[in-house]
Amino acid sequence: MRRPLIAGNWKMNLDRAGAVALAQAVAAKGNDFPAADLLVCPPSIYLDPVAAVLRGSKVALGAQNMYHEGNGAFTGEISAAMLVDLGCSYVILGHSERRHIMGETDEQVRAKTVAALAAGITPIVCVGELLSERQAGQTASVIARQVAGSLAGLSAADCEKTVIAYEPVWAIGTGQVATPEQAEEVHRDLRRLLADRYNTATAEKVRILYGGSVKPNNAGELLQQPDIDGALIGGASLKAEDFLGIAAAAK
Ligand code: PGA
Repeated sequence: MRRPLIAGNWKMNLDRAGAVALAQAVAAKGNDFPAADLLVCPPSIYLDPVAAVLRGSKVALGAQNMYHEGNGAFTGEISAAMLVDLGCSYVILGHSERRHIMGETDEQVRAKTVAALAAGITPIVCVGELLSERQAGQTASVIARQVAGSLAGLSAADCEKTVIAYEPVWAIGTGQVATPEQAEEVHRDLRRLLADRYNTATAEKVRILYGGSVKPNNAGELLQQPDIDGALIGGASLKAEDFLGIAAAAK
């Protein structure tokens, strides 16, 4: 059985006091959702104070990005070991904002995924099509290309430790959520891709999250889909009540 993962991506929001307060509000209720794993991903500069708040709670800590090299002359970058040092157990990789604003490629996402796994951090590898690609009927091929590139060379054992997030770019921050049927179709395809690459047992173990305008009022239907194993939440994760409302929908 795959345990649902409810992950908050705070993006470049909040200040230190706001991040601490949000973490406190989430941690205080973390035990109310025994059926789900909870995760928050603050801006990297606030990982440390948020880690202090989460210690002893069931809410995990994750980063929003990292660099694939271990250490050295890479000004401004943060390594997997540094994230481990701060108590991170997850890292979001290849988010569409990084792919489309910072120009991150599948190859860079792959290198980061390998480095995260080697450091013992669970990568959350994001994939998703643009609106123009969906309208051109290219959703399946875009997803297949991103999966092939971002997970290239991963062993079955490493793939099982990896989380995939399907985030249609047109649904992120737009309020335009994918229908449960649209999302499930891509999640089912993703699992089939993994079964083809590895085997059914591996594919059945991988958690595949949906992301893109998930709110408390639409989470229930999405999370009921057989191949949707949790949510990656942006806007709604900035309000403890909304984030926890989504967690409540994960059975
Ligand atoms: P959203 O963002 O929930 O604000 O649409 C999701 C994400 O980018 O992870």
